Amino acid sequence: MRLAVWIALAACGDNLPAPDPLAPVTLVDTNPDPTIVEVSVVATTTRIAYLPETTAEAWAYRDGSVAGSQASVPGPLLEAHQGDHVIVHFRNELAEPTTIHWHGIRVPNASDGSEHTQQPVAPGDTFDYEFTAVDAGTFWYHPHARGDVQVEKGLYAPLIVHGGVEPAVDADRMFVLDDVKLAEDGELDDTIDDNDLKFGRQGNTLLVNGKVSPKLSARAGARERWRFVDAANSRFFNLSLPGHPFLVIGWDGGLIPEPYTTDSLLLGPGERYEVIVELDGEPNDSLVLQTLYYDRAPELHDPGPLDLMTIELGSPATALDPLPTEWAAFDPLPTDATSMQNLTLHEDPGPDGKTAFSINGQVYPDVTPIAAAKDALAVWTINDDVGMDHPFHLHGMFFQVIDIDGVPAEHRGWKDTAIVPRYKKLRFAVRYGEPGHWMFHCHILEHQERGMMGVLDVTTR
Ligand code: C2O
Ligand code: CU
Ligand code: CU
Repeated sequence: MRLAVWIALAACGDNLPAPDPLAPVTLVDTNPDPTIVEVSVVATTTRIAYLPETTAEAWAYRDGSVAGSQASVPGPLLEAHQGDHVIVHFRNELAEPTTIHWHGIRVPNASDGSEHTQQPVAPGDTFDYEFTAVDAGTFWYHPHARGDVQVEKGLYAPLIVHGGVEPAVDADRMFVLDDVKLAEDGELDDTIDDNDLKFGRQGNTLLVNGKVSPKLSARAGARERWRFVDAANSRFFNLSLPGHPFLVIGWDGGLIPEPYTTDSLLLGPGERYEVIVELDGEPNDSLVLQTLYYDRAPELHDPGPLDLMTIELGSPATALDPLPTEWAAFDPLPTDATSMQNLTLHEDPGPDGKTAFSINGQVYPDVTPIAAAKDALAVWTINDDVGMDHPFHLHGMFFQVIDIDGVPAEHRGWKDTAIVPRYKKLRFAVRYGEPGHWMFHCHILEHQERGMMGVLDVTTR
């Protein structure tokens, strides 16, 4: 029950960050125990106004503890502190079965939300998820049933676990990135053309926290922490705020040991990044966050830079404490593990014009699980032979990217989703986590749902 405290703090002084019009609604914690976060999430149908004067039928999450709460895209933010015990009471008000998967969170297997860990929650039914938030970082939750359809419809939401080093910032903002394909009448267009099938569905409308070209106000010269989630079915975002480099401080598995500066920040579906940005400029200046073309498949043409949102600078910020010099502790995993997995991602034009996606020639669900022992070290090599990039994701544990085609990874840290560039081999090291059935798949959801998925079976030695 920390929400009340935050609201009180935010109201009491001019040197505090201005309220964020894009800030997601936070799920209400109904448990008085400060170490337990107990929330209620409902998946329901609703109408969302993506464009002025039209609405689209959407499927979205709302807070089940708040009478009459509105479902939103993205859904309400789940906020916890490192070490908190999290209990989520889930109710499905959709007309089809669904689940919730806690992307990136190291959950007990029974709470992972995949079809290997639970029966999908039938319409009208409920399910309780429970986990301890062991890692601080930026995560998200989404269904693991008909993901390509359900996530596109609006079922996705951010999750923050606070903890670790807290840099002094003027604002800590969450930006969930997506795109939707809207028809003329403003409804979601659910047709899938050849490109959608091959490369994953790309929308015609870009969204930041469910909004088209939103405007944000910030102090001139402010230092802000921005957390990004790529929740799109297939779009890669290559973010740029011209003239304002990003200091990358964290990604999927939380803060990284050695932050680095970059002018453009690439996110594939499923990935998260945390950056510090200094909003240099004069009051009344406007800055525009853009996504630059990124060549993820040769057939997808270059539309030039696309605008995502505008930041309007107001009165100057006051100086903050310097940034920390120590960020996260980091133990590199050995990279000479004797247990090796080689996975080849492949695409086959299947019978009746249906493209099948496979890993090592196996099309999910017809796959042989990979057997593994808890705590054993392994090196996985993921290799694309389709000729396009794939964001490869592993449930239930983090890994460390070693190299891509032999070129050592430039930056170190824990990932759960990593982009395998086309025709290249990405190697990562992993120490197997908790026992259970853990999915791995391409996070281009059209690929995942058409076979590019497998299962890792971890057992206790
Ligand atoms: Cu975010 Cu198995 O997925
Ligand atoms: Cu996941
Ligand atoms: Cu893929």
